[in-house]
Amino acid sequence: MSGETPILKRIKYCAGNWKLNKTPDETKAFIEEFRKLLSSDFSLNHNESLKDNGAAADQLKTLIFFLVYNLVTLHDSIGDLPIEFGPQNIYYENSGAFTGEISPSAAKSIGSTYALIGHSERRTLFNETDEDCHKKVQAAIAAGLTPMLCIGESLAQRESNQTQEVVLKQLKVALMGITSEFVVAYEPVWAIGTGKVATPEQAEDVHKFIREQLGKIISSKVAESTSILYGGSVKADNAKGLAEKPNIDGFLIGGASLNPADFYKVRGNLFKTQRANESKI
Ligand code: PGA
Repeated sequence: MSGETPILKRIKYCAGNWKLNKTPDETKAFIEEFRKLLSSDFSLNHNESLKDNGAAADQLKTLIFFLVYNLVTLHDSIGDLPIEFGPQNIYYENSGAFTGEISPSAAKSIGSTYALIGHSERRTLFNETDEDCHKKVQAAIAAGLTPMLCIGESLAQRESNQTQEVVLKQLKVALMGITSEFVVAYEPVWAIGTGKVATPEQAEDVHKFIREQLGKIISSKVAESTSILYGGSVKADNAKGLAEKPNIDGFLIGGASLNPADFYKVRGNLFKTQRANESKI
């Protein structure tokens, strides 16, 4: 690997997407269990020592996209744990007669730092379009939230060789004119919740393509510094192979993020792979 490699500069993410799961009590129990796991975790200690010696303490972020009614519980339970959180969806207005929608500025005011946008379930079940995603990306940024934009092709699109065309359109429309920081989550729809994970090579091919296209659509600087996560049936045992790929900067995890021990194991494998990659540079 050359000294020009951007691996060290990009933030790695272990992000959980809890979808429509967990009551406030279950949320509290998860955080308590996760706190116990983290407190005995070498990687947390390592992060702290990194902080001490002035190196990048935020190289690995742990993030949870929760249900909004759990926001207060999550905020109160997390306390000093190095976990950030955000809603799984936002609306593009902050207030008004929009029954059932989620205000970006209200989510921000209680401590959210990210917002998930354009998850495939939002697109397929709730008819969210690329244009909606664009407005939501803008609204997140205006509210001070970092948008995590989800993109990905269906099985039929992959089988008819349309993967690149599909993800390019999703990127171009949603990110038109965006100059602030964002994160991309590549989630092939055929891998979400199916147990069929993309191979590290399949995922890396698309991640590389996304990075190249970000260079063309926005700038090479943004392409180099933007974290691109993989999502779709990520578990502890497949995390390592995926995380070893140079353009995969972590994971968006559904099922395996619901159990603290499983989520912790994915995080640990991501952290260890990151350390191993760094030591090769
Ligand atoms: P999964 O979900 O890990 O259960 O496949 C991923 C997602 O929907 O973000």
